[in-house]
Amino acid sequence: MAPRPTPADKFSFGLWTVGWQARDPFGDATRPELDAVEAVHRLAELGAYGITFHDDDLIPFGVDAATRDQHIARFRKALDETGLVVPMVTTNLFTHPIFKDGGFTSNDRDVRRYALRKVLRQVDLAAELGASTFVMWGGREGSEYDLAKDVRAALDRYREAVDLLTQYSIDKGYNLRFALEPKPNEPRGDILLPTIGHALGFISQLAHPELVGLNPEVGHEQMAGLNYAHGIAQALWQGKLFHLDLNGQRGIKYDQDLVFGHGDLMNAFALVDLLENGGPNGGPAYDGPRHFDYKPSRTEDMDGVWASAAANMSTYLLLKERAAAFRADPEVIEALAASKVGELSTPTLNDGESYDEFLADRSAFEDVDVDAVAERGFAFVRLNQLAVEHLLGAR
Ligand code: GCO
Ligand code: MN
Ligand code: MN
Repeated sequence: MAPRPTPADKFSFGLWTVGWQARDPFGDATRPELDAVEAVHRLAELGAYGITFHDDDLIPFGVDAATRDQHIARFRKALDETGLVVPMVTTNLFTHPIFKDGGFTSNDRDVRRYALRKVLRQVDLAAELGASTFVMWGGREGSEYDLAKDVRAALDRYREAVDLLTQYSIDKGYNLRFALEPKPNEPRGDILLPTIGHALGFISQLAHPELVGLNPEVGHEQMAGLNYAHGIAQALWQGKLFHLDLNGQRGIKYDQDLVFGHGDLMNAFALVDLLENGGPNGGPAYDGPRHFDYKPSRTEDMDGVWASAAANMSTYLLLKERAAAFRADPEVIEALAASKVGELSTPTLNDGESYDEFLADRSAFEDVDVDAVAERGFAFVRLNQLAVEHLLGAR
């Protein structure tokens, strides 16, 4: 039996996920439009705690101020009725043709000024709705042709934009944190800040690096052939995991946005184990929203949309159960010790040991029987098989 989610599990969904009408580059929509109010009610019924959105998901692009206010008021009412919260908000700088060469980094300065104004307005709305995280996915920030984009100038403009936003949030007392979402390509041939590593490097160049972190997405790292759980571990290590986008991806190809766990299930297991059990004393390593950014497949009707939304949450909870059982299994505890997984937490130098003392320690080098040490096995395969057995419900 799949466990039932509750708001305490902190599951959230983008309005654009369940609302995706499944229009793709080759085919028309296969589903009707979904009203934001209905999305709020259905997600609350399914046990979610939060909903997130781009400005244009809620408020059609270009409408007048009165219409905008009406959309926001209806949405707010649905939130009040259900208790659903808005932990994160983001801006659409990719759909309208004006953004065809990007928003913050378009070669056209008029576009950049327009994009920044659009984002500032959404920052105000984020604060108004009580969001704590502001996501920035720069899907159009990039190029197809290397000579058409001065990447260093583009990064200057990206930094200029982020610096302005953080300063604005500070001056307004908004308390927002900004989370950059890396993606290697699609819709641009090459997107700026393509991976977690690139984005972390960029953050170090900002005026307020403490206010800027990451929103890494499973599929985006896997599109680049990278290990998502490793990337998340480094983001945690650097105090930069501000938010995350959970979904599924099968290998290096177009962005699939499958249900969480419907791609690399073993990596999803390692990820949930890290998030839930990787903190100090074995508790959670991350306490933010478990946010799903997936697309209900084009083959699904509206019943299938809600079934797929529920599938994301139950997969997460099942993996959480399996990870807890894995951690509690005495054989796993013994296998982890045999693999010296815990030994890596012991510093390589002794407490207070100087490099002179280290250089004088013959047992560290001159007297080492390298052949004997090299013969030691790590038994990692046995450990991994125990994980597989837990994952398959054999333990
Ligand atoms: C994608 C992206 C987007 C962003 C979202 C937030 O699948 O390429 O994940 O869905 O997460 O637009 O801005
Ligand atoms: Mn994606
Ligand atoms: Mn995403």
